[in-house]
Parts: sequence; C-alpha cells; structure tokens
Amino acid sequence: MSARKIIIDTDPGQDDAVAILLALASPEEIEVLGITAVAGNVPLALTAKNARIVCELAGRTDVPVYAGCDAPLKRKLVTAEHVHGKTGLDGPDLPDPSMPLATGHAVDFIIDTLRAHDPGTVTLCPLGPLTNIATAFQKAPDIVEKVREIVLMGGAYFQVGNITPAAEFNIYVDPEAAEIVFKSGVSIVVMPLDVTHKALVTKPRNDAFRALGTRVGIAVAEMTDFFERFDREKYGSEGAPLHDPCVTAYLIRPELFSGRHINVEIETLSELTLGMTVADWWRVTDRAPNALFMGDVDADGFFALLTERLARL
Ligand code: BDR
Ligand code: CA
Repeated sequence: MSARKIIIDTDPGQDDAVAILLALASPEEIEVLGITAVAGNVPLALTAKNARIVCELAGRTDVPVYAGCDAPLKRKLVTAEHVHGKTGLDGPDLPDPSMPLATGHAVDFIIDTLRAHDPGTVTLCPLGPLTNIATAFQKAPDIVEKVREIVLMGGAYFQVGNITPAAEFNIYVDPEAAEIVFKSGVSIVVMPLDVTHKALVTKPRNDAFRALGTRVGIAVAEMTDFFERFDREKYGSEGAPLHDPCVTAYLIRPELFSGRHINVEIETLSELTLGMTVADWWRVTDRAPNALFMGDVDADGFFALLTERLARL
C-alpha cells in the first residue's frame, strides 16, 4: 500500500510536535505534503516558528511549512501558554530554525494541493483550531469533495471540556470554523479528550523516550515532562495526555482506536457552553452521523508504536 498523503494543520504545542515527529518517522504509511501553521496554543508567529523547529529536529527541512490564519474567523484568539509555556514548545532547549517559511499563505497551499491531486487522495490532519481548514473550504468550495478524509484532534463527550467546563480547546478557540468543518460533508475521524486523556505519558513511558538516547528521544522526554506539570496539577493524572499524536498514530495503526459513527454538532451560540461538541454518542436523535467519534485507545500499543518510530529519527 502506498503512503497516505497528508497535510498537517497545527499550532505547536509539545503534543503537536510529537504528532509531527511520528508522521515524519513513518514514511511507509505517511507522506507529509506540507505543514500549515495556525494560531492556537500560542500566536501564529510562534506556531509557524515551532513547526520549523520540529522539522529541523527531525532532519526534514524539505517539508514546506506555511503560515496561515492568525486569528479565529469571528472571535479574539484565546491561547494556552498556561499549558504549553511562553514559547508553546517549552521544555527542551532547541535552536531557532534556519529553514525559512514557505512562500504563500497556508490556506492557498491547502487549496492548491487539493486541486493538484486526484480527488480522494489527500487527507487533512488538523491538530489545532480549525481556522485554516474552514477558511480554505469557504474560499474554494470545490476542494471540499476532493478531501479524502479529515482526521482531527478536538472535542470531547465524556470528558466534556478542558478550556471551559463544556469545551475542548481546539473547538472552543474557533467554534464557527469547527461548525463549517463538521457540516462540510467530508468524512471526519475525531480524536476527542475521551481518547487522548487515556494516552498518558506515565513515568516509564517518559523514561522509554529518554532511553532512546537520541536528540529526538531526549527532546520528546523533555517536552512531555514540561507538559506533564499542568495535567498532574489539574487532573491528578499520571502524566501528560498526548492529544495530537493520536491523529498520526491512527493513520499508521487505526486498529489501536475504537469509536462510533455518530452525529456531532458544534455549539456556537451559548456563552456558557460555547465550543461544546454535542456528540450523539447514545444515538438519541435522528440527526445523520457525520463523524467517526473515537472513544478508546490501546494506550500500551500506542506508546509502543510511538517509541519505536521516534527511535528512527
Ligand atoms: C488540544 O489543545 C492543545 O492545547 C493541544 O495541542 C491539543 O491540540 C487539546 O485540547
Ligand atoms: Ca494542538
């Protein structure tokens, strides 16, 4: 089987960084056509810089990195320095990138790439707010039916919310963009907090990254160490949830995850529950399913895959 062509749309973020590293370490299954940065965990200038830092860490300066939207469609940007640190990539001491940004806007790269490929051959992998993807769909509606699939990290049902009591960060930051994507008709796979909160970097898993002894292994251990403080304090959990790598792991080993084909709507009106993913997990409505909403992960299998692949870089 040939490698699946993807665009990673991202707001790095330590967990975004690990997701990108996993994809770049897996050329048999994944061909990264480009990385598009969006404002999210930190402002755009930093996410666009961090994406390049990660490509350089992986030795992949050939992967084009585009800067995209610097603010949500209709709202003021909300960031998450309280989780990811001031740079968005706090933890390891990594050099500033020397590779330049690719010329052009991320949204145009998404549009041009989908138009240049056969229909149903390019998968979009959003790891941050959905602003770039929704903007591309609005600007070029002809690309929507060309997308093979969207595999994204965002939302929650049983875990409800992390940035507010009702909403997960990526959806909360740009709920109007999320609504456009979820109503687009494209086949969507969702990795919500219900799954990612089971993908915890426990001490032995962190030790396994460090024991690789490579620059990448040590950097990932230091990133997840940093990230962990926040989650330990907040949830009392055993370690940091590796949210975004669930997306790239799914492309490599989908059988690690299980979920349900259900309807998911995005709350855009209520102040109290803004950005909530109203997931019809129990199928109590007759609204048509629009997403494969994951509920579980084989966490040991996931970390075994991740560690094995990171060892290649
Ligand atoms: C999501 O928000 C960000 O903080 C993480 O990178 C992840 O994409 C988790 O809610
Ligand atoms: Ca992210």
